[in-house]
Amino acid sequence: LLTTVIWYMVDNNNVEPQRPHAKKKSAPEPSDPSDPSDPCKGCSSQLSSQCHGLDRAIITQANTPVGSKIVYDGDKKKTLKVTPELFSTFAKEHPFPNKTWDTCAVVGNGGILTNSSCGDIIDSAQFVIRCNLPPLGKGYEKHVGTKTDIVTANPSIFLEKYGALMGRRRPFVESLHSYGKSRLLLPAFSYGHNTPVCMRAVYSIEDFESPIQPIFFNPEYLQSLALFWRSRGLRAVRLSTGIIMASIALEHCANVHLYGFWPFGNHPHGLHALTNHYYDDRQTKTKFHSMPAEFDLLLQLHSQGVLRLHLGDCQ
Ligand code: CDP
Repeated sequence: LLTTVIWYMVDNNNVEPQRPHAKKKSAPEPSDPSDPSDPCKGCSSQLSSQCHGLDRAIITQANTPVGSKIVYDGDKKKTLKVTPELFSTFAKEHPFPNKTWDTCAVVGNGGILTNSSCGDIIDSAQFVIRCNLPPLGKGYEKHVGTKTDIVTANPSIFLEKYGALMGRRRPFVESLHSYGKSRLLLPAFSYGHNTPVCMRAVYSIEDFESPIQPIFFNPEYLQSLALFWRSRGLRAVRLSTGIIMASIALEHCANVHLYGFWPFGNHPHGLHALTNHYYDDRQTKTKFHSMPAEFDLLLQLHSQGVLRLHLGDCQ
């Protein structure tokens, strides 16, 4: 970690904000996974050939037919047989088939976005991915933008903020308005207890005719992605939402820009104290995630030109 921060301080110019439309550097060579200084040079193509996110990241009616068995990626031994009712909630086809976006912004929730003025540059990306239903209004627009194509939701949010969706569901559905017609990406099949609450979220969206479209992470993909990064030195019980979404973006987008990724307590420039999220100071569960190690990896990918981390203010 210390080396990371020092390395960052020394090579500060390399992580200044860039125009999102800057072209990616020439295709990097495939890396040797055993070489920690070279975690993933040909990342996008390696991800495609080993994890197949273009076809498998999302559960669809094509890749998960009625009668097939879903194997949970968190509860290792748990499986679920796909019934016609469950099948009817799956996306008919992959929401982004073979579509390569030019520029994508993946927005992490880090407090580094506070007062960053990065909203316009984030919204100028062709495709914007956000994590864990982050607040977008309330004066945050200037710093984080509003455009959303995919937003993820951790089921713990449904439990803590919306009474596990056991009672009135209107407040939950109203909270989704700020994400417009985006896709709501749910880890419904990571742990057994995620499934019923995610299904209640899906049915609430349908019953209230909300324009947001629920889709599910494919646990088979999440499992292969965890192995992919583990074989490149990342040791964590679970990958964080941010690195999962950055990995998906690497397969779908020519230029991947990350904002709000800075899992440290002080701002890299002003060194002033930061909250963990741009909207609250709730701490990450270090038992599951290893965000500083993930950041180290992302920083290496940045230095290889695989993606671009934005750590400065945008104006
Ligand atoms: O659910 P999870 O703990 O993974 O995420 P979160 O706290 O809602 O934040 C979304 C993502 O932003 C994380 O998964 C991290 O990748 C990133 N993040 C960061 O890099 N630094 C922070 N201080 C907070 C979040």
